[in-house]
Amino acid sequence: MTEGERLQKFLARAGVASRRGAETVIESGRVAVNGTVVTQPGTRVAAGDVVAVDGKPVLPPEGHAYFVLNKPAGYVTTMDDPQGRATVADLFPETSRRLFSVGRLDRDTTGLLLLTDDGELAHRLMHPRFHVRKTYVAEVDGVPDDADLRALARGVTLDDGPTKPAEVELVAEGAGVATVRLTIAEGRKRQVRRMLSHVGHPVRALTRVAFGPLTLGTLEEGATRTLSAAEVAALRDAAGLSGQGEA
Ligand code: URA
Repeated sequence: MTEGERLQKFLARAGVASRRGAETVIESGRVAVNGTVVTQPGTRVAAGDVVAVDGKPVLPPEGHAYFVLNKPAGYVTTMDDPQGRATVADLFPETSRRLFSVGRLDRDTTGLLLLTDDGELAHRLMHPRFHVRKTYVAEVDGVPDDADLRALARGVTLDDGPTKPAEVELVAEGAGVATVRLTIAEGRKRQVRRMLSHVGHPVRALTRVAFGPLTLGTLEEGATRTLSAAEVAALRDAAGLSGQGEA
């Protein structure tokens, strides 16, 4: 999206209506920018602004789409489940894009999930070579002691091999329960749950709070937002794509 583009032009380019038709759509109060109804066709929109018509997000025709979802528990990370279970696609605004998730969260894990139609960026972000860091907050059974925390930080040996060094912090402790913050640069299946079980502290609840340069911020559970241009640039940087092509 061009910086500061007029709303009716944006809608016309996105195929909502002709430019004249888009003016009518705007004037009739059917268009919202970042959640606020806008009735002036000349209103300018920029990259990162969320434009919706009748409550449905409209994506610009060119460029890629990037969304963050705060995934609730109980949803499978897939856009289509043959078994008919609830999926993250159910939480997602309908768009004409073929979005897919960058990596997965277990059905019972909550938190930050990136969805995009940018295959190259997604591929790189998931590739071990780029060591994209993911931060999780886990509520666990029991209180890990210093030896447990050191073991997690150094690496523990799971059935599929040793884990790479991680950052670990005991955030809170209570009666028979604790909160641990863990940052890993790998993405093996159920890795955080397996690491914590390995040191004798099974996970009760797990949430991802950061993915590379992205953080959840104040996004509510079940809600989505589009990435800002700065966030897309930071992701491209994390994937070794900075300075190449679009930002
Ligand atoms: N590690 C896990 O164990 N589960 C997730 O969903 C993500 C990381």
